[in-house]
Amino acid sequence: MTCRGRFVVIEGGDGVGKTTQSRLLAARLGARLTREPGGTDLGEQIRSVLLDPHAGDVHPMAELLLMVAARAQHVNSVIEPALESGVDVVCDRFSGSTLAYQGYGRGLPLEDVAAACALGSLGLVPDVTVLLDAPLPALAGRRPRGAGSEAPDRIERAGERFHERVRAGFLELGRQDGWVVVDASGEVDDVARDVCAAVAGVLGRCGPPVRSDPIVSSGAPCRPVAPEPGR
Ligand code: TMP
Repeated sequence: MTCRGRFVVIEGGDGVGKTTQSRLLAARLGARLTREPGGTDLGEQIRSVLLDPHAGDVHPMAELLLMVAARAQHVNSVIEPALESGVDVVCDRFSGSTLAYQGYGRGLPLEDVAAACALGSLGLVPDVTVLLDAPLPALAGRRPRGAGSEAPDRIERAGERFHERVRAGFLELGRQDGWVVVDASGEVDDVARDVCAAVAGVLGRCGPPVRSDPIVSSGAPCRPVAPEPGR
């Protein structure tokens, strides 16, 4: 019998190192790595529109609906099929980002944002959400601004007060069941170790039915990445 895969989400503000940590965690878990907004052809097109600095004045409600439209496509055609076939999924952002950015950040009523998220996620709830948190000044130096084509996108440009509201919103969300907050202000390897411990702490029990995969059934779901040659 195939056990349903586990759905792990990494959340956090812009520049907190989510993408790197998502990649490292997916490698350790042998999980499928994906991201939001994006993850499908439609989702990536919606992403380009949403992040385009020349998109002009985008109403927060339009922003919200586009985010959850991309999510519905993503859940239906990528995430659910992977989980159903027993593959773990690590997703760089999910509904938590919508609550933090469109709710706490843009100021849309949280109950409206939550309702839109329930629709867009097709009812899918993460097994665990890891919130990477660091103070804004610690993030400034890490943003890939100005590097090649990596000029700040439309949402990164929203200003410091917006991003402070987003961070405060995330910390509020991080108090909920199913969330674990990890201090992301340290070195990449230290943060990766803490993310792994956080995920193992929640998913250590796979729950019945247990997969025959010895790594999962041994209660050690964070599989070490194979050492690089020469290390
Ligand atoms: P990133 O994935 O490179 O961090 O960029 C995605 C941007 O989109 C980031 O600024 C957060 C934002 N975002 C929202 O505002 N709402 C959402 O629901 C999601 C998934 C992302």
